[in-house]
Amino acid sequence: SDNSSSSLRTPIVAVLGHVDHGKTSLLDKIRGSAVSEGEAGAITQHIGATAVPLETVSEMAGDLVKVEDFDLPGLLFIDTPGHHSFSTLRSRGGALADIAILVVDVNDGFQPQTEEAIDILRRTGTPFVVAANKADTTPGWNPNPDSPIKPSYDGQSDNARKRLDENLYRIIGELSDAGFSADLYWRVQNFQRNIGVIPVSALTGEGVPDLLAVLMGLSQRFMKEEMEIDVGGPGKGTVLEVKEERGFGSTLDVVVYDGIIREGDTIVVGGKDEPIVTEIRALLQPRPNAEIRVEKRFDRVEEVGAAAGVKIAAPDLDDAIAGAPVRVVRDQPLADVIEAVESEL
Ligand code: GTP
Ligand code: MG
Repeated sequence: SDNSSSSLRTPIVAVLGHVDHGKTSLLDKIRGSAVSEGEAGAITQHIGATAVPLETVSEMAGDLVKVEDFDLPGLLFIDTPGHHSFSTLRSRGGALADIAILVVDVNDGFQPQTEEAIDILRRTGTPFVVAANKADTTPGWNPNPDSPIKPSYDGQSDNARKRLDENLYRIIGELSDAGFSADLYWRVQNFQRNIGVIPVSALTGEGVPDLLAVLMGLSQRFMKEEMEIDVGGPGKGTVLEVKEERGFGSTLDVVVYDGIIREGDTIVVGGKDEPIVTEIRALLQPRPNAEIRVEKRFDRVEEVGAAAGVKIAAPDLDDAIAGAPVRVVRDQPLADVIEAVESEL
């Protein structure tokens, strides 16, 4: 390919689904962490963001994702809560997404927040795959840790495979009822026309290589043009959380979905009463594979390009609100940027 690789934006992958179906556990498997275990009652209560570099994706996916076949820098995963009370956070996460993983517990099938997630994906026109999670709980299942799913599936007893198939075909039927043509992922040729259903286990890692390969393929093939838009322009982002940090006062955890954001930039942020205009004092980046929601150690950086999760330290952020837009003021009049932020609130 050409030398445009550095200008390709990291795709944003939202993870959506019903409470307890295994969204955070799946991300824990991919990034090698244990965030879910630290959550009260294993309930996610905020949107998270984790940058997973291409090298990590390739390590997890083995032969299914070779570094040299992709120009993408990696994937930015957005974790969302599945508990029914957090519907605003689910739409916010869905709105940020380029592509999505809909996580469905194979035993439970579609549940109310699965339906809600499907509505968000339909409304935003976001391409997605289904991770049919907890395949390891199928009676008689013989686990093959971290293996691609097809050989593991083919190697199960007839009885175990039949039990899993029943659950998978029920999910495929539920997708069809929701208006989506779907099939087991190894039968899907065109992942934009047909939804691929991938049996996975966040516990044993089976199917995770396949899931990553499908996400990388979807991003590379279908998102490339969109992701080349405006990568060098003024940064645009969404506030995930407003947090007190010792030594910095109120800070913003932000997902930058477009352009570049730099230390010293003037930004406009949506606030309680009116947009806040301030100057970035420090940009703090979580380490690769770290969940910004729980990260304690940040690297101070001079600039961050989309897509990324970053903590912004700046004066006067006390009245900033979660969900609000953040815009860098560069090459346009301040008044225009303030107006853009107001129109998005
Ligand atoms: P919310 O964020 O609250 O919506 O939940 P979640 O979808 O993030 O679920 P979470 O990852 O916290 O997992 C819920 C429970 O299911 C935990 O006890 C996990 O250990 C368990 N679990 C998740 N994935 C698997 C899996 O593949 N197999 C098995 N056996 N258990 C799993
Ligand atoms: Mg969770």
